[in-house]
Amino acid sequence: MVQHNLATEVDIKLNDGNTLPALGLGTVPSDDPSDVKNQVVAAVKAGYRHIDTAWYYGTEKYIGEALKQIFEEGIATREDLFITSKVWPSLHHDPEKSLNSSLKDLGIDYVDLLLQHWPVCLHGDANGLPATPFDAKGNLLYDDDPVSGTGYIKFYNRIEDLKFNSNKIKSVGVSNYSVPKLRELLRNRKRYVPVVNQIEYHPQLPQKDLENFCAEHNIILEAYSPVGGTGAPVLKLPLINELAKKYDVSVNEIANAYHLLQGRSALPRSSNLARIKVNVRLPQLTNDEIQQLYNIGDKKPVRYTNDPWGYGIGFKWWEGDTLSTEFD
Ligand SMILES: NC(=O)c1ccc[n+]([C@@H]2O[C@H](COP(=O)([O-])OP(=O)(O)OC[C@H]3O[C@@H](n4cnc5c(N)ncnc54)[C@H](OP(=O)(O)O)[C@@H]3O)[C@@H](O)[C@H]2O)c1
Repeated sequence: MVQHNLATEVDIKLNDGNTLPALGLGTVPSDDPSDVKNQVVAAVKAGYRHIDTAWYYGTEKYIGEALKQIFEEGIATREDLFITSKVWPSLHHDPEKSLNSSLKDLGIDYVDLLLQHWPVCLHGDANGLPATPFDAKGNLLYDDDPVSGTGYIKFYNRIEDLKFNSNKIKSVGVSNYSVPKLRELLRNRKRYVPVVNQIEYHPQLPQKDLENFCAEHNIILEAYSPVGGTGAPVLKLPLINELAKKYDVSVNEIANAYHLLQGRSALPRSSNLARIKVNVRLPQLTNDEIQQLYNIGDKKPVRYTNDPWGYGIGFKWWEGDTLSTEFD
């Protein structure tokens, strides 16, 4: 039997000197958010050291329960784990409120990474509610124009200030940044180059332009929806199935290896505890096989995330987006 390396043992050095465990557990709830508690405990027992969450997901208090159990039972210590949270755009005016709420629910006193969830400013109240504000016609309510506004930069600047003025954040980063938005941010950041940009990435959605731009600036890509989200459409690709047979691993492990072998982080989620437990091997795909996986999306790109707050922010292949034409 082939002995595989472990995906749970791959680390990535960040531009601020901190270390990111490459395989992270996603915590968007599948159904009942309280199920996430057992998912986190199962993942940490299986060797995961990185948990990806967000104020918006509504799962932080269940992750907090999981962490309490993990620490009490000695499965891992706080220092063993890398915990990411995110500030949602309806709290762009007060990231500190978001952070304090996340820390309280998680039951910890610092996050390893705080991300700006999206480069837009939604119109929330003092508590960031409603998180997805729509008017009577079904249009999103913004505090700033998503195409031409610069409020998203001030949003990031507030997160920078928060890191600078407290000891509750080890690293800061961004999520859902296209090349044009990132270029503008780097020109106007106050202190910190984001350590990561968390985006949708899988063999059906090549992101080479973004990847090259991020590499130039020493920003690591974190791949969300590594199997394409609910229904796992990416796992139906014939090449993924062939490679899983060849290497005698699961299709999920091929989807993760596609990122980890290229220096990216992957953030799979599952409500199936057995799947979480076995999803830890790292088959050594050849460069040619990785290129073949990349070619799938290069020929026929498919983006599975089409949230309305992503319109107009400069992403390619964003279904229905008519706002981004002026970019690049
Ligand atoms: N920054 C952002 O804006 C953003 C956006 C999206 C996601 N994320 C992060 O990335 C994480 C992962 O992304 P994602 O939630 O879109 O999920 P994903 O990992 O691409 O997909 C998870 C879905 O695939 C299913 N699945 C996995 N393996 C399967 C298999 N072998 N057979 C059948 N179904 C399978 C899971 O079902 P089971 O539950 O049955 O296993 C689940 O419904 C999130 O949880 C979150 O932490 C961030």
